[in-house]
Amino acid sequence: MLLNPEGPVLYRLYQPEDFSALYAIEEACFEHPLRFGRGYMHRLVRGPGTATWIAEQDGQLAGFAIVDWAREARQTGAYIQTLEVAPNRRHQGVGGELLRRLETSARTAGVHIVWLHVDAENTPAIRLYQAHGYRREGQENHYYARSRPALIYAKSLETPDPRPLTPDP
Ligand SMILES: CC(C)(COP(=O)(O)OP(=O)(O)OC[C@H]1O[C@@H](n2cnc3c(N)ncnc32)[C@H](O)[C@@H]1OP(=O)(O)O)[C@@H](O)C(=O)NCCC(=O)NCCS
Repeated sequence: MLLNPEGPVLYRLYQPEDFSALYAIEEACFEHPLRFGRGYMHRLVRGPGTATWIAEQDGQLAGFAIVDWAREARQTGAYIQTLEVAPNRRHQGVGGELLRRLETSARTAGVHIVWLHVDAENTPAIRLYQAHGYRREGQENHYYARSRPALIYAKSLETPDPRPLTPDP
C-alpha cells in the first residue's frame, strides 16, 4: 500500500517509452468517436513542431497534453491536439499545469495564437480553457460525428506569461 498515494506531480517532456501508458490514458478518457487511434497518436507525438508534456505522480503517468504548430502566411499558429488527465488524478491542477506548459512551449516556438476543438458537451474541459483565457471563436457541427459539434476556442499568446516555469525538484 502506498503511504502517500498523492505525492508531488512532476512535469517533463514525452519520451518514446511513455507511449503505452500515455495511450492507456487516452483509452480511459475517450471512447469512439472521440478516441484517437493508436497509430494516429503515435504520429502525433513524433511529429515535427510538436511538444508533448507528461505529468507523473507516484511513478505513474497522471496525464499528458500535445500541442503542434506551423508557420502560416502571417503568423505561427498552434493547435492543442489533446489534453488528458487520468480519471483518478483530476481536480488537483494537473490539467491546468499541462495547459500552461503547452503554451510555454508554443511561445518559445514563436507561436502567436493557439486554438483547439472541444466537444460542446465537455463541460470540465470548456471550464478549464475558459479559466485559462481561451475565448470561443466558433462551432463546427458534425465535427466528432453526426450531430456531435465541436466548439472552437482560441487564445492569443502575444502577451508574455507572467509566471515563469519553475524547475521540478
Ligand atoms: C479536462 C481535464 C483535462 C481537466 O483536468 P484536471 O486535471 O481535472 O484539471 P484541473 O485540476 O486543472 O482543473 C479542474 C478543476 O479542478 C479545480 N482544481 C484545480 N486544482 C485543485 C485543487 N488543488 N483542489 C481542488 N480542486 C482543484 C479547478 O479549479 C477546476 O475546477 P472547475 O472545473 O470548477 O473550474 C480532465 O477533466 C480530462 O482529462 N478530461 C477527459 C479528457 C478531455 O476531455 N480532455 C479535453 C480534450 S479537448
